[in-house]
Amino acid sequence: MIEKINELLRQVEEFSPKAAAEVEEFRIRILGKKGELTALMDEFKSVAPELKRELGQKLNALKNEALQRINTLKEELQNAAADSASQVGDMTRPGTAEELGSRHPISLVKNEIVEVFARLGYTVADGPEIEDDQHVFSSLNFPPEHPARDMQDTFFIEKASSEPSEKDILLRTHTSSIQVRTMEHQKPPIRVICPGRVFRNEAISYRAHCIFHQIEGLYIDEGVSFADMKQSLLYFAKEIFGEQAQIRMRPSYFPFTEPSAEVDVSCNLCGGKGCPVCKGTGWLEIMGCGMVDPNVLKASNIDPEKYSGFAFGMGIERIAMLKYGVKDLRLYFENDVRFLHQFDDAL
Ligand code: DAH
Repeated sequence: MIEKINELLRQVEEFSPKAAAEVEEFRIRILGKKGELTALMDEFKSVAPELKRELGQKLNALKNEALQRINTLKEELQNAAADSASQVGDMTRPGTAEELGSRHPISLVKNEIVEVFARLGYTVADGPEIEDDQHVFSSLNFPPEHPARDMQDTFFIEKASSEPSEKDILLRTHTSSIQVRTMEHQKPPIRVICPGRVFRNEAISYRAHCIFHQIEGLYIDEGVSFADMKQSLLYFAKEIFGEQAQIRMRPSYFPFTEPSAEVDVSCNLCGGKGCPVCKGTGWLEIMGCGMVDPNVLKASNIDPEKYSGFAFGMGIERIAMLKYGVKDLRLYFENDVRFLHQFDDAL
């Protein structure tokens, strides 16, 4: 019997389970009703009285050792299991809601303007932000002495000399460069709308920024007239500012259009009566436009005797400010979510 006790003790000491279930199995095998230790206890009842003392002590020691080892192993394995479960996370906990972003107001307005002109048959055209002198200035009929060709107004990346040069590389100052790019590989009829970022060497203030967005439009075909332009721009104003919107055109000058005009929309705040926003005039300036100068058509190998067209360009920030009554341009660039979330359901 003493060998059996020693053998069982060795088994208890060497027992190294991997899971709590194994411990339970072991407990039943040793301490269960039909367990090996239980059997030894029964056997103990019939040992000779002179052996009882020694064997009794051994058996008790074995029982205590078995109980203790089983309990500690069980606890250790259960804790380890809980630890690894907590690395996965408690699968029964309620989830945290993902915060939904919203479109930037400039994107909203840009998309809306693009959609308005898409209804008139315009498609979107694109061009690079890093441009050359030819596409931003010379093909658009800018004279060499034009102030826009000065470092004061334009960010140059490469400038050959202090004189304007066709080799100059710069950040585009307007999206009119996309007109030139489009005419390079598309023949009339052309009807494109060109949204994009533009860059100017301006001090940042509530009404000016060195980066902003413009949308350019270009329509070239046979027999396109000033009246066509006026009607298209009136349609645009009504779609963006509401059915009551009116436009007026004031003579202006751009190197790439002749004649040129500045377009005003009736003030949507006071309905044209005059208020602080329209400075009492009842009108708000929204864009420049004009009939494409024959020199611009010629520079892109389009025959000005056969084709005519109109172009227009507007600042997206400006339209968005008027539409939403935003007074400080800088808000569009700060990306403060308290500002941005106000446009969640804007369109
Ligand atoms: N490019 C002009 C600007 O940045 C805006 C503009 C005016 C575009 C008249 C045009 C236009 O296409 O015809 O101020």
